Amino acid sequence: MTSPDLPTELKIALNAKLQGVSRNEAAGRAALISQTYRGGGNSVTIRSEADALAYALARMPATYAAVTASLNALCEIRPDFAPASLLDVGAGPGTATWAAAEALPSLKRFALLDANSALRELALDLGRDSARLGNMTYERGEARAALANAEAADLVVASYMIGETGEAEQSTLAELMWAKARDTLLVVEPGTPAGYARIIALRKWLIALGAHVVAPCPHDGRCPLQPPDWCHFTQRLPRSRAHKQIKGAELPFEDEKFSYVALTRAPVAPYSARVLAQPAVGKVEISAKLCTPEGLVVTKVPRRAKADYARARRWRWGDAITDQG
Ligand SMILES: C[S@@+](CC[C@H](N)C(=O)[O-])C[C@H]1O[C@@H](n2cnc3c(N)ncnc32)[C@H](O)[C@@H]1O
Repeated sequence: MTSPDLPTELKIALNAKLQGVSRNEAAGRAALISQTYRGGGNSVTIRSEADALAYALARMPATYAAVTASLNALCEIRPDFAPASLLDVGAGPGTATWAAAEALPSLKRFALLDANSALRELALDLGRDSARLGNMTYERGEARAALANAEAADLVVASYMIGETGEAEQSTLAELMWAKARDTLLVVEPGTPAGYARIIALRKWLIALGAHVVAPCPHDGRCPLQPPDWCHFTQRLPRSRAHKQIKGAELPFEDEKFSYVALTRAPVAPYSARVLAQPAVGKVEISAKLCTPEGLVVTKVPRRAKADYARARRWRWGDAITDQG
Protein backbone atom coordinates (compact mmCIF):
# COMPACT_ATOMS: atom_id res chain seq x y z
CA MET A 1 0.00 0.00 0.00
CA THR A 2 1.44 3.36 -0.99
CA SER A 3 1.21 6.13 1.61
CA PRO A 4 -1.24 8.98 0.92
CA ASP A 5 1.38 11.51 2.09
CA LEU A 6 3.34 13.39 -0.60
CA PRO A 7 6.73 11.79 -1.32
CA THR A 8 9.72 13.48 0.33
CA GLU A 9 11.24 14.45 -3.02
CA LEU A 10 8.07 16.36 -3.95
CA LYS A 11 7.82 18.02 -0.52
CA ILE A 12 11.41 19.24 -0.88
CA ALA A 13 10.70 20.60 -4.38
CA LEU A 14 7.54 22.39 -3.17
CA ASN A 15 9.35 23.86 -0.16
CA ALA A 16 12.12 25.14 -2.44
CA LYS A 17 9.49 26.93 -4.57
CA LEU A 18 8.05 28.46 -1.39
CA GLN A 19 11.30 30.18 -0.44
CA GLY A 20 10.77 33.94 -0.40
CA VAL A 21 7.04 33.61 -1.12
CA SER A 22 4.64 35.32 1.30
CA ARG A 23 2.44 32.63 2.88
CA ASN A 24 -0.32 35.19 3.35
CA GLU A 25 -0.29 36.11 -0.30
CA ALA A 26 -0.26 32.44 -1.34
CA ALA A 27 -3.15 31.77 1.07
CA GLY A 28 -5.10 34.65 -0.50
CA ARG A 29 -4.55 33.26 -3.99
CA ALA A 30 -5.48 29.73 -2.91
CA ALA A 31 -8.69 31.07 -1.32
CA LEU A 32 -9.62 32.85 -4.54
CA ILE A 33 -8.97 29.72 -6.60
CA SER A 34 -11.10 27.53 -4.32
CA GLN A 35 -13.85 30.15 -4.29
CA THR A 36 -13.85 29.95 -8.10
CA TYR A 37 -14.09 26.15 -7.93
CA ARG A 38 -16.92 26.28 -5.41
CA GLY A 39 -18.75 28.70 -7.70
CA GLY A 40 -18.60 26.11 -10.50
CA GLY A 41 -15.52 27.67 -12.18
CA ASN A 42 -12.34 25.88 -13.15
CA SER A 43 -8.58 26.24 -13.25
CA VAL A 44 -8.50 28.97 -15.91
CA THR A 45 -8.11 31.39 -12.97
CA ILE A 46 -4.64 29.88 -12.46
CA ARG A 47 -2.60 32.20 -14.66
CA SER A 48 0.70 33.04 -12.99
CA GLU A 49 3.56 31.14 -11.38
CA ALA A 50 2.28 32.34 -7.98
CA ASP A 51 -1.27 31.09 -8.72
CA ALA A 52 0.08 27.69 -9.79
CA LEU A 53 2.14 27.35 -6.62
CA ALA A 54 -0.80 28.41 -4.42
CA TYR A 55 -3.02 25.84 -6.14
CA ALA A 56 -0.41 23.10 -5.71
CA LEU A 57 0.12 23.88 -2.02
CA ALA A 58 -3.60 23.89 -1.30
CA ARG A 59 -4.84 21.01 -3.44
CA MET A 60 -1.95 18.75 -4.48
CA PRO A 61 -1.81 16.84 -1.14
CA ALA A 62 -5.50 15.91 -1.38
CA THR A 63 -5.64 15.01 -5.07
CA TYR A 64 -2.39 13.06 -4.62
CA ALA A 65 -3.98 11.12 -1.74
CA ALA A 66 -7.12 10.37 -3.77
CA VAL A 67 -5.13 9.11 -6.78
CA THR A 68 -2.91 7.03 -4.50
CA ALA A 69 -5.94 5.45 -2.83
CA SER A 70 -7.39 4.63 -6.27
CA LEU A 71 -4.08 3.14 -7.43
CA ASN A 72 -3.85 1.10 -4.23
CA ALA A 73 -7.32 -0.30 -4.94
CA LEU A 74 -6.34 -1.07 -8.54
CA CYS A 75 -3.09 -2.79 -7.50
CA GLU A 76 -4.85 -4.82 -4.82
CA ILE A 77 -7.04 -6.39 -7.50
CA ARG A 78 -4.20 -6.61 -10.03
CA PRO A 79 -1.00 -7.21 -8.02
CA ASP A 80 0.79 -8.16 -11.25
CA PHE A 81 0.02 -4.81 -12.93
CA ALA A 82 3.39 -3.46 -14.12
CA PRO A 83 2.91 -0.64 -16.64
CA ALA A 84 6.01 0.85 -18.26
CA SER A 85 4.40 4.05 -19.58
CA LEU A 86 1.99 6.65 -18.19
CA LEU A 87 -0.10 9.33 -19.87
CA ASP A 88 -1.45 11.93 -17.40
CA VAL A 89 -4.30 13.90 -18.99
CA GLY A 90 -5.05 17.32 -17.47
CA ALA A 91 -1.92 16.77 -15.42
CA GLY A 92 -1.80 20.23 -13.80
CA PRO A 93 1.19 20.32 -11.43
CA GLY A 94 1.85 16.62 -12.13
CA THR A 95 0.00 15.24 -9.11
CA ALA A 96 -1.19 11.94 -10.61
CA THR A 97 2.21 11.40 -12.23
CA TRP A 98 3.92 11.64 -8.82
CA ALA A 99 1.32 9.29 -7.33
CA ALA A 100 1.69 6.75 -10.13
CA ALA A 101 5.50 6.87 -9.95
CA GLU A 102 5.28 6.11 -6.24
CA ALA A 103 2.67 3.32 -6.50
CA LEU A 104 4.06 1.67 -9.64
CA PRO A 105 7.84 1.18 -9.61
CA SER A 106 7.64 -0.40 -13.09
CA LEU A 107 6.84 2.99 -14.71
CA LYS A 108 9.69 4.31 -16.84
CA ARG A 109 8.10 6.80 -19.25
CA PHE A 110 5.94 9.69 -18.10
CA ALA A 111 3.97 11.84 -20.58
CA LEU A 112 1.79 14.67 -19.31
CA LEU A 113 -0.56 17.05 -21.08
CA ASP A 114 -2.54 20.09 -20.02
CA ALA A 115 -3.86 23.37 -21.42
CA ASN A 116 -2.53 25.49 -18.53
CA SER A 117 0.97 26.95 -19.08
CA ALA A 118 1.52 28.04 -15.46
CA LEU A 119 0.73 24.57 -14.10
CA ARG A 120 2.86 22.96 -16.79
CA GLU A 121 5.86 25.14 -15.84
CA LEU A 122 5.39 24.28 -12.18
CA ALA A 123 5.18 20.54 -12.91
CA LEU A 124 8.40 20.66 -14.91
CA ASP A 125 10.12 22.58 -12.11
CA LEU A 126 8.93 20.20 -9.42
CA GLY A 127 10.09 17.16 -11.38
CA ARG A 128 13.41 18.58 -12.56
CA ASP A 129 15.62 16.99 -9.89
CA SER A 130 13.66 13.77 -9.59
CA ALA A 131 15.49 10.60 -10.59
CA ARG A 132 12.25 9.07 -11.94
CA LEU A 133 10.48 12.15 -13.33
CA GLY A 134 13.38 14.26 -14.58
CA ASN A 135 12.73 13.06 -18.13
CA MET A 136 8.98 13.56 -18.21
CA THR A 137 7.53 15.09 -21.36
CA TYR A 138 4.78 17.66 -20.92
CA GLU A 139 2.65 18.75 -23.88
CA ARG A 140 0.80 22.05 -23.55
CA GLY A 141 -2.54 21.94 -25.31
CA GLU A 142 -6.26 21.26 -25.28
CA ALA A 143 -6.86 17.66 -24.25
CA ARG A 144 -8.77 16.67 -27.37
CA ALA A 145 -6.05 17.77 -29.80
CA ALA A 146 -3.15 16.79 -27.54
CA LEU A 147 -4.64 13.33 -26.99
CA ALA A 148 -5.08 12.77 -30.69
CA ASN A 149 -1.33 13.30 -31.10
CA ALA A 150 -0.26 11.54 -27.90
CA GLU A 151 1.45 8.17 -27.90
CA ALA A 152 -0.54 5.34 -26.34
CA ALA A 153 0.53 4.39 -22.80
CA ASP A 154 0.05 1.31 -20.62
CA LEU A 155 -1.73 3.43 -18.02
CA VAL A 156 -3.74 6.59 -18.75
CA VAL A 157 -4.85 8.74 -15.81
CA ALA A 158 -7.18 11.73 -15.61
CA SER A 159 -7.34 13.16 -12.10
CA TYR A 160 -9.87 15.86 -11.18
CA MET A 161 -9.93 16.83 -14.83
CA ILE A 162 -13.04 15.72 -16.70
CA GLY A 163 -15.28 17.91 -14.56
CA GLU A 164 -13.55 20.93 -16.07
CA THR A 165 -14.82 20.04 -19.54
CA GLY A 166 -18.34 20.41 -20.91
CA GLU A 167 -20.75 17.48 -20.76
CA ALA A 168 -20.67 16.98 -24.52
CA GLU A 169 -16.84 16.93 -24.45
CA GLN A 170 -16.71 14.26 -21.74
CA SER A 171 -17.77 11.32 -23.91
CA THR A 172 -15.30 12.32 -26.64
CA LEU A 173 -12.52 12.65 -24.07
CA ALA A 174 -13.45 9.30 -22.51
CA GLU A 175 -13.18 7.58 -25.88
CA LEU A 176 -9.91 9.30 -26.74
CA MET A 177 -8.36 8.41 -23.39
CA TRP A 178 -9.54 4.81 -23.74
CA ALA A 179 -8.09 4.63 -27.25
CA LYS A 180 -4.71 5.71 -25.80
CA ALA A 181 -4.85 3.23 -22.91
CA ARG A 182 -3.01 0.08 -23.93
CA ASP A 183 -3.97 -1.60 -20.67
CA THR A 184 -5.72 0.53 -18.05
CA LEU A 185 -7.51 3.87 -17.67
CA LEU A 186 -7.98 5.45 -14.24
CA VAL A 187 -10.30 8.42 -13.81
CA VAL A 188 -10.60 10.18 -10.45
CA GLU A 189 -13.09 12.93 -9.63
CA PRO A 190 -14.26 14.80 -6.53
CA GLY A 191 -16.48 12.57 -4.38
CA THR A 192 -19.60 14.65 -4.93
CA PRO A 193 -22.84 13.49 -6.59
CA ALA A 194 -21.76 15.42 -9.70
CA GLY A 195 -18.28 13.84 -9.71
CA TYR A 196 -19.84 10.39 -9.31
CA ALA A 197 -22.31 11.10 -12.14
CA ARG A 198 -19.41 11.87 -14.49
CA ILE A 199 -17.59 8.69 -13.44
CA ILE A 200 -20.66 6.53 -13.90
CA ALA A 201 -21.39 7.99 -17.36
CA LEU A 202 -17.81 7.41 -18.49
CA ARG A 203 -17.91 3.88 -17.04
CA LYS A 204 -21.04 3.10 -19.06
CA TRP A 205 -19.66 4.48 -22.35
CA LEU A 206 -16.41 2.58 -22.02
CA ILE A 207 -17.97 -0.73 -20.95
CA ALA A 208 -20.01 -0.43 -24.17
CA LEU A 209 -16.65 -0.18 -25.98
CA GLY A 210 -15.38 -3.38 -24.34
CA ALA A 211 -13.78 -2.07 -21.11
CA HIS A 212 -13.90 -4.05 -17.85
CA VAL A 213 -13.99 -2.54 -14.36
CA VAL A 214 -11.11 -3.37 -12.02
CA ALA A 215 -12.21 -1.10 -9.16
CA PRO A 216 -14.20 0.05 -7.32
CA CYS A 217 -17.02 -2.12 -8.76
CA PRO A 218 -16.58 -5.91 -8.52
CA HIS A 219 -18.64 -6.23 -11.73
CA ASP A 220 -19.29 -4.62 -15.12
CA GLY A 221 -23.04 -4.38 -14.55
CA ARG A 222 -25.16 -1.33 -13.78
CA CYS A 223 -24.35 0.65 -10.66
CA PRO A 224 -26.91 -0.50 -8.05
CA LEU A 225 -26.91 2.83 -6.17
CA GLN A 226 -29.98 5.03 -6.46
CA PRO A 227 -30.04 8.80 -5.89
CA PRO A 228 -29.64 10.49 -3.44
CA ASP A 229 -26.96 7.83 -2.75
CA TRP A 230 -23.71 7.99 -4.72
CA CYS A 231 -20.53 5.93 -4.80
CA HIS A 232 -17.60 7.72 -3.19
CA PHE A 233 -14.72 7.06 -0.86
CA THR A 234 -12.63 9.04 1.57
CA GLN A 235 -8.91 9.26 2.17
CA ARG A 236 -7.32 10.86 5.24
CA LEU A 237 -4.09 12.74 4.62
CA PRO A 238 -1.70 14.64 6.85
CA ARG A 239 -1.44 18.43 6.55
CA SER A 240 2.04 19.95 6.65
CA ARG A 241 2.64 23.33 8.29
CA ALA A 242 2.66 25.09 4.90
CA HIS A 243 -0.52 23.25 3.88
CA LYS A 244 -2.28 24.41 7.08
CA GLN A 245 -1.08 27.99 6.58
CA ILE A 246 -2.25 28.11 2.97
CA LYS A 247 -5.67 26.74 3.90
CA GLY A 248 -5.96 28.72 7.13
CA ALA A 249 -6.67 25.38 8.81
CA GLU A 250 -5.89 24.14 12.33
CA LEU A 251 -6.37 20.38 12.04
CA PRO A 252 -3.22 18.38 11.22
CA PHE A 253 -5.13 16.23 8.71
CA GLU A 254 -7.98 16.38 6.21
CA ASP A 255 -10.32 13.85 4.62
CA GLU A 256 -10.59 13.97 0.85
CA LYS A 257 -13.75 12.55 -0.69
CA PHE A 258 -13.32 11.11 -4.16
CA SER A 259 -15.01 8.92 -6.77
CA TYR A 260 -13.05 6.87 -9.27
CA VAL A 261 -13.10 4.09 -11.80
CA ALA A 262 -10.26 1.92 -13.10
CA LEU A 263 -11.02 0.22 -16.42
CA THR A 264 -8.96 -2.39 -18.15
CA ARG A 265 -8.92 -4.23 -21.47
CA ALA A 266 -8.88 -7.78 -20.05
CA PRO A 267 -11.45 -8.89 -17.46
CA VAL A 268 -10.06 -9.30 -13.94
CA ALA A 269 -10.53 -12.36 -11.71
CA PRO A 270 -13.92 -11.98 -10.02
CA TYR A 271 -14.04 -10.83 -6.38
CA SER A 272 -16.85 -10.73 -3.87
CA ALA A 273 -17.57 -7.14 -2.93
CA ARG A 274 -16.50 -3.56 -2.24
CA VAL A 275 -17.28 -1.89 1.09
CA LEU A 276 -19.29 1.26 0.30
CA ALA A 277 -19.36 2.95 3.73
CA GLN A 278 -17.66 2.57 7.08
CA PRO A 279 -19.25 -0.59 8.59
CA ALA A 280 -21.25 -0.10 11.79
CA VAL A 281 -19.80 -2.22 14.58
CA GLY A 282 -22.55 -2.95 17.14
CA LYS A 283 -22.73 -5.11 20.23
CA VAL A 284 -24.47 -8.01 18.48
CA GLU A 285 -23.43 -7.62 14.88
CA ILE A 286 -21.46 -5.73 12.26
CA SER A 287 -23.53 -4.18 9.53
CA ALA A 288 -21.79 -3.36 6.24
CA LYS A 289 -22.99 -1.86 2.97
CA LEU A 290 -21.47 -3.83 0.11
CA CYS A 291 -21.47 -3.55 -3.66
CA THR A 292 -21.51 -7.11 -5.05
CA PRO A 293 -21.90 -8.64 -8.53
CA GLU A 294 -25.50 -9.41 -7.46
CA GLY A 295 -26.23 -5.82 -6.47
CA LEU A 296 -26.26 -3.73 -3.31
CA VAL A 297 -26.25 -5.79 -0.11
CA VAL A 298 -26.40 -4.72 3.53
CA THR A 299 -24.76 -7.65 5.20
CA LYS A 300 -25.08 -8.36 8.93
CA VAL A 301 -22.36 -10.42 10.55
CA PRO A 302 -23.39 -11.67 14.03
CA ARG A 303 -20.82 -11.67 16.83
CA ARG A 304 -21.52 -15.36 17.44
CA ALA A 305 -20.07 -16.18 13.98
CA LYS A 306 -16.62 -15.64 15.47
CA ALA A 307 -14.35 -16.05 12.44
CA ASP A 308 -16.63 -14.06 10.10
CA TYR A 309 -17.05 -11.34 12.75
CA ALA A 310 -13.29 -11.04 13.21
CA ARG A 311 -12.87 -10.76 9.44
CA ALA A 312 -15.64 -8.15 9.15
CA ARG A 313 -14.06 -6.06 11.95
CA ARG A 314 -11.13 -5.43 9.61
CA TRP A 315 -13.33 -4.09 6.78
CA ARG A 316 -12.89 -0.40 6.03
CA TRP A 317 -14.81 1.87 3.70
CA GLY A 318 -13.33 1.34 0.22
CA ASP A 319 -11.89 -2.13 0.87
CA ALA A 320 -12.28 -4.95 -1.62
CA ILE A 321 -13.56 -8.19 -0.12
CA THR A 322 -11.78 -11.07 -1.72
CA ASP A 323 -11.82 -14.72 -0.72
CA GLN A 324 -8.81 -14.01 1.48
CA GLY A 325 -9.98 -10.85 3.17
C1 LIG B 1 -8.36 20.50 -11.01
S1 LIG B 1 -6.96 20.48 -12.02
C2 LIG B 1 -6.30 18.87 -11.66
C3 LIG B 1 -4.85 18.80 -11.93
C4 LIG B 1 -4.20 17.44 -11.61
N1 LIG B 1 -4.65 16.40 -12.48
C5 LIG B 1 -4.43 17.08 -10.17
O1 LIG B 1 -5.05 16.06 -9.89
O2 LIG B 1 -3.96 17.81 -9.29
C6 LIG B 1 -7.64 20.23 -13.63
C7 LIG B 1 -6.60 20.31 -14.73
O3 LIG B 1 -7.21 19.93 -15.96
C8 LIG B 1 -6.75 20.82 -16.96
N2 LIG B 1 -7.75 20.86 -18.03
C9 LIG B 1 -9.06 21.12 -17.90
N3 LIG B 1 -9.68 21.08 -19.10
C10 LIG B 1 -8.70 20.80 -20.00
C11 LIG B 1 -8.71 20.61 -21.42
N4 LIG B 1 -9.82 20.70 -22.13
N5 LIG B 1 -7.54 20.33 -22.01
C12 LIG B 1 -6.40 20.22 -21.30
N6 LIG B 1 -6.34 20.39 -19.97
C13 LIG B 1 -7.48 20.67 -19.32
C14 LIG B 1 -6.60 22.15 -16.25
O4 LIG B 1 -5.75 23.03 -16.95
C15 LIG B 1 -6.04 21.72 -14.91
O5 LIG B 1 -4.65 21.66 -14.91
